[in-house]
Amino acid sequence: MRLLIINGPNLNLLGKREPEIYGVNTFESFLEELKSKYQNIEFSYYQSNIEGELIDKLHEFGFDTDGIILNAGAYTHTSVAIGDAIKSIKTPVVEVHISNVHSREDFRHVSYITPNACGVITGFGLKSYDLAVQSFL
Ligand code: DQA
Repeated sequence: MRLLIINGPNLNLLGKREPEIYGVNTFESFLEELKSKYQNIEFSYYQSNIEGELIDKLHEFGFDTDGIILNAGAYTHTSVAIGDAIKSIKTPVVEVHISNVHSREDFRHVSYITPNACGVITGFGLKSYDLAVQSFL
């Protein structure tokens, strides 16, 4: 099984960014844990702060990988284009969020990803990504 994890804007700063919301671990160290927990899964990882680059990556992997786990960060709440990209590809996409977006500001309650995702996992910290992996098993 091949899974791609995509992180959007500001998620390169995990560990430093608002640790009371997003925790103190870097994504890179968490990814090593995921890889050792799921040794039969081939993980690819991509992070970008640029909307078009996230769309390019969805197009690149969206026809020949088994699943995509997407945390689009703030683009979740603004990007019609990322929503359209998910609709345009074949690979199922699971939307994840570290924080519980529904317990935060109203603007975070809107998602352009959800209508085209196969499911949403929000609020479990980095464990949200692990739960997303499990959804593909
Ligand atoms: C986030 C939630 C978004 O509202 C926010 O803009 C992020 C991270 C999360 O993982 O909790 O950048 O997607």
